[in-house]
Formats: sequence, structure tokens, C-alpha cells
Amino acid sequence: MLLTRQRRRAVIAGAVTVATAALGIGLSTQFASAQTTLRGAADAIGKDIGVAVDANRLQSNAQYRDIVASEFNSLTAENAMKWDATEPSDGNYTFSQADSIVDFAEDNNQTVHGHTFVWHQQTPSWVQSLNATSMRTAMVDHINTVANRYEGRVDSWDVVNEVVSDNNGAMRDSFWLRTMGEGYITTAFQTARAADPNADLYINDYSIDGINAKSDTVYRIAQGLKSQNILDGVGFQAHLILGQVPSTMEANLQRFVDLGLKVRITELDIRINLPADSAELQQQANDYQRVVEICAELADCSGVTVWGLRDADSWVPGTFPGTGAPLLYADDYSKKPAYTAVLNALGGDGTGNPTTTPATSDPATTTSPPPTGSGCTATLSVSSPWNTGATYSATVKANQALSGWKVTWTWPGSERISNAWSVTGTLTGASVSGANAPYNGTLAAGQSTTFGFNITKADGSTASVPTVTCTPA
Ligand code: XIL
Repeated sequence: MLLTRQRRRAVIAGAVTVATAALGIGLSTQFASAQTTLRGAADAIGKDIGVAVDANRLQSNAQYRDIVASEFNSLTAENAMKWDATEPSDGNYTFSQADSIVDFAEDNNQTVHGHTFVWHQQTPSWVQSLNATSMRTAMVDHINTVANRYEGRVDSWDVVNEVVSDNNGAMRDSFWLRTMGEGYITTAFQTARAADPNADLYINDYSIDGINAKSDTVYRIAQGLKSQNILDGVGFQAHLILGQVPSTMEANLQRFVDLGLKVRITELDIRINLPADSAELQQQANDYQRVVEICAELADCSGVTVWGLRDADSWVPGTFPGTGAPLLYADDYSKKPAYTAVLNALGGDGTGNPTTTPATSDPATTTSPPPTGSGCTATLSVSSPWNTGATYSATVKANQALSGWKVTWTWPGSERISNAWSVTGTLTGASVSGANAPYNGTLAAGQSTTFGFNITKADGSTASVPTVTCTPA
């Protein structure tokens, strides 16, 4: 877990967090870091910015895939790691969808927040009808199998989900509680801790974002689990209604941090009564900004995950009829006002402009000439340069049918890749040798694919655009 995080954040994490912590001021305006992606901005302050994803969409939709890779540094499986997806019948495990999400995260240097082992929904009926002894065995087997499979690749787990009811903070009257008694929660955490001692273990719930009877109950459960050293964090789902970010949200998260726990916004969406007008979209942006600022300013908040990429992907319209438009991207993949608000809250530069003057020839407009070659050609372009780094996008074009490609180039100066997406290989040195990711190697003649990366470089120098050699692999 630590390795993944350090690798991803090694270069730029330090300065901004130290400065803001010392001065005790917010990140949003004072330290705009000229980062122009959510991912770049979150990396710069050492936070996860996550998105809940669907394996089929990742597989089939290039635009979806590219945005997930370039804008987010953390993934959660929206459904693929739930019990009904991973163990539909007793002892028969199906991991193909969950595997593909974890593979994608690994290829793109993203953390994974696992969701979820023990829940009263999306759990097959064969589990629900077991007696206490068999249910305990099934739970232990399930957690061991899933946690072991992803040990070292999933950074944190929602071990239990939604165990408190909406009725005045009473425990949820689920088949788990009725069959096993309240001890089912401890059993789940003990099992998960033993199965993957390095993963962070979370309790996750909705309507606990502010201080209320339900979050009070989660607080008491968390105290008990923390005292046994089997809990690391609390997940606040934050399925919010427009204009209703709880006024006590910051104080609520702080009280859990004061127990020595991490906190995380795990399933953020903010729903609007449809149709949404522009004033509502602006209110939504303000609400998103507030939630993300709370996390950005709290050192022990590990990050924020939004529950889906586009409005069209969201569970909200199906679950809360008449409402929708709850996410950062519109159906056509355009960025909504909420996107810019989140970028600002992460300390990025929502204007899209670098805060320092670029060197004499503006590299933003520079694209390398397509080199001549037979099997494939590749070009780089700098999409957003700043003083000490830049984001590049690359296009690989197949001149013949390909089942894989390789790209190589040498940096002329101090440029070095800090993170990359949709490309694999040896990327971090002066000589770069990249290869296709599992999903973008097969190209028909004439077809193109893209990948991208961020670099760091010594202050002030112009981000260069080297010539790339592309060969079929
Ligand atoms: C939802 C998914 O988004 C839907 O696709 C699925 O049909 C039902 O579950 N709280 C949770 C999530 O913890 O797992 C739920 O996800 C949303 C509410």
C-alpha cells in the first residue's frame, strides 16, 4: 500500500502540504498550483481523487477510459467487488470484472479503495438463509478469499457497509444482525485485518456526513473497533441533496480524526431535482467545493471518491426518481461547473492557465513532427505546461494492423515522467521505453489511440517535445 502511494506522489507532494499546514490556511485560493487535472492537483496535495467505475464501460468506451485514467488517481468498483459479483454461489468465485478494474488501476498507477465485504444488499440469497455458524464460516471464507486475492493491490477496504439504520441510530435490522448478532461486525474486521494486515480498513455509511444520531452510533462502533486496532478509517458516502451539505460536516469528520482514524468521502454525488438549471448547477459546484475543501484541509482525510463519472452513469435517477445530474461530467463528457469547483478545492488552477509565465516559445502549442516509420507513428504534445512540470498527451497511429506497440524516446534535458496513464513500460528515466496497456494495443490500420503522462523538470526550462520512435510489438 505504502509503495503505491509513495511511487505516485513522490515528486510534488511535499511543498504545498507543508506550507499550508504551517500557515493553517485553505488551499483553494492561496496556493493554486497551476495543476489543470483533478489528478495532478490531488497528487500535489497528497490526496486521493477517486471515481467509482464499471468494468464494462472501462473495456468498451475509450473516452470514459481516458478520463478515468487522466483525471483520477484512485478507483472503486461500483459493483464488481460486491458479494453477488465475486461469490454468486458458495465457494464459486468470479473475479474477472474486479480483476480488470484492479489491472486498470495498476496500469495507470492508481490506488484502489475496495468496496465491500459485508453489506445487507447485493449479497446472494444463499448467504442470507444460512444459520449462525455457517454464516460466520461463509463470511470468513469470503473475506479471506477476496482480501488475499487483492493483497498489495487494493489499498483499503470498506469492510462493513451501512450497518446502522436510519431509525434514531439503532443498529440496522439486517440478516447479518438477526443471524449472528452485533458481533458480526467485529468478526468481519478481525478477519480482514488478518487477511491483509497492510490494507486500511474502513466502516462506511450514508447520512453520517453531519453530526446526528446515526453518525453518533458509527462513532461509538468506531471507538470500539479502533481500541482493538482493527479499524483504520471511516467512510462517509455523502450521497447529498443540492444545497444540503451538513453545516456540521467538518466538525463531524474532525471528531473521528480525533479518535486516531482516517476519514474519507467514499461515494460523493449531489443530486438535483430535474431538470437542472444553470443556477442549480452553480449551487452544485459550490456544494462540491465545500465538501472537497473539508477533505483537502484535513490532513487525515485520505481522499474523495465521486460515485460515477458522467451523470448518465449515475445510480441516482434510478434510485431517487425525478432527481439526477449529480456528478462532475455531463452525458457528453463535458465538464460541469462542479468539475472546476473540485479542481479549485484541490488547489488546482481552475482557469486552466499556468501561474508562471511560460518560457519564450510557448510549448503549449508545440507538437513533435510525426516521424516517418512503417508499422506505426507516435507524436507527443504538451497540453499544459507549468514552471516545474507539464502534462503531455501522446497519439499512436497504426499504419498497419497491430496487436501491440512500443514507443521510445530520450529526454534532452531534466524532464522525467512522474506518472503516466494508458501506457506501460520503463518510463521514469531519461530513456523512455513505453508499451501499450492491455486494452489499447490492438489497432486496425489507420486507427489511433492515446496515452498521457505528467513530467517534472527543473524550474523555468521549456518542456521539450522529443521525437518518438514507434515500433509494432
Ligand atoms: C449502488 C450502485 O451505484 C448501483 O449501480 C447498484 O445497482 C446499487 O448499488 N451505497 C453503496 C453503494 O454503498 O454500493 C451503492 O451503489 C450506492 C449506495
